[in-house]
Amino acid sequence: MARLLLGVSGGIAAYKALEAARLAVKRGHAVRVIQTRASERFVGRASFEAITGAPVLRSEFEPDPARGAYPGEPVPERVPISHLALVDRAHVLLIAPATANTLAKLAHGQADNLLSAAALAAGCPVVVAPAMNSRMYTHPATVANLEVLRARGVMVVPPGEGDLASYSEHGIGRLAEPEQLLEACESLLTPHPLGGARVLVTAGGTREPIDSVRFLGNRSSGRMGFALAREAVRRGAEVVAITAHVTLEPPVMVRLKRVQTAAELAGACRRELAHCDVLLMSAAVADFRPLGPVDGKLKKDEGVPQLELEPTEDVLSQIAELRRPDQVIVGFAAEYGPDAVSLGRGKLERKRLDAIVINDISRAGIGFESEDNEVTILAADGTERHVPQSRKDEVARAVLDEVERLRELRVGLDGARADTRSPARI
Ligand code: CTP
Repeated sequence: MARLLLGVSGGIAAYKALEAARLAVKRGHAVRVIQTRASERFVGRASFEAITGAPVLRSEFEPDPARGAYPGEPVPERVPISHLALVDRAHVLLIAPATANTLAKLAHGQADNLLSAAALAAGCPVVVAPAMNSRMYTHPATVANLEVLRARGVMVVPPGEGDLASYSEHGIGRLAEPEQLLEACESLLTPHPLGGARVLVTAGGTREPIDSVRFLGNRSSGRMGFALAREAVRRGAEVVAITAHVTLEPPVMVRLKRVQTAAELAGACRRELAHCDVLLMSAAVADFRPLGPVDGKLKKDEGVPQLELEPTEDVLSQIAELRRPDQVIVGFAAEYGPDAVSLGRGKLERKRLDAIVINDISRAGIGFESEDNEVTILAADGTERHVPQSRKDEVARAVLDEVERLRELRVGLDGARADTRSPARI
């Protein structure tokens, strides 16, 4: 549980800040809110007060009835000396939505309302989530302001693309979803054992074209890969995800590279390999592809096509040749039946991996298209860990625990634990 200070500036997306506050309270955080005057035109303070159970502040000159206390804390006997008591005691400051105006103030160190003053005084990590019209978001002034903030260590949760508030406008500028905002804040609150590490995750299932409309695919949803990416971010890693076909919203703070086929995935892995310290190869990569896919659409009056298949390249096996000794490479194996673990062990050795995560796909309710998984993690040094059926987030934690252990073995305790993040300053 953390003390989360939520700053709400004036945009229509302020209603989503209500949901973010509700979610934060539900997850056990103590939330206080500072609103700008403009934000009150969109959402009234009574709504935030009802959700957080604490008074909302707006002005530097307004006394705080809770005297700087967060929900669940006793109200101090004395009035705090500074109007900055709330930010002094915050574990994280989240500004959502952050309007173009508020971002400009933060970038230039203005302090003309309680929110911008609190941001300037923040000693805790700061997260900003821009939301505005796409032309304002892409204006060079806003782009430059965000760059300035990023360079100072502020975490920027980028807006999404889609329908905007203004009638019939479509573009980039929608506030990130409340779940993503919380994810970003929580990633800054947990210790960062993977701080400074670069983690490459592959996720989803590849699709191999038969013709321009049909393909050979598989049932992977990408859920396991995204859970791994999210957990790596939470532990402080810089994460790149190479995603084949996925059916889910990607995690925030992850650089995405989208691919379709096994060949594209192989190319993307080769390009990224040199830049990563850890590879988590959870994508379901096709082993075969149709030989000579047809441009256009196969017609049924031309008869049933005879599909000839050819093998794809085995990405992991090739990586064994290219890898640096300090890199940690983890494979995944979906095996069928009671021999799953021994089949997986064979792949661990053949593909010269540091570890392999094996699940038995003959079991109902786990693995493909499911929220849950049950796995055995085998490491090349002989350790074996069974993770009983649990949500994929839980399995991801176990896999990342193993990655941390392997990194300590490969690069030594000091190197593996180097947390290069410094606290953000506005
Ligand atoms: N893999 C890969 N390239 C491929 C196929 C698989 O890099 N062309 C990777 C997967 O991402 C996974 C691991 O190898 O991390 C094991 O994948 P799996 O499909 O279980 O093994 P295969 O080697 O393809 O063997 P088989 O399908 O015959 O069991």
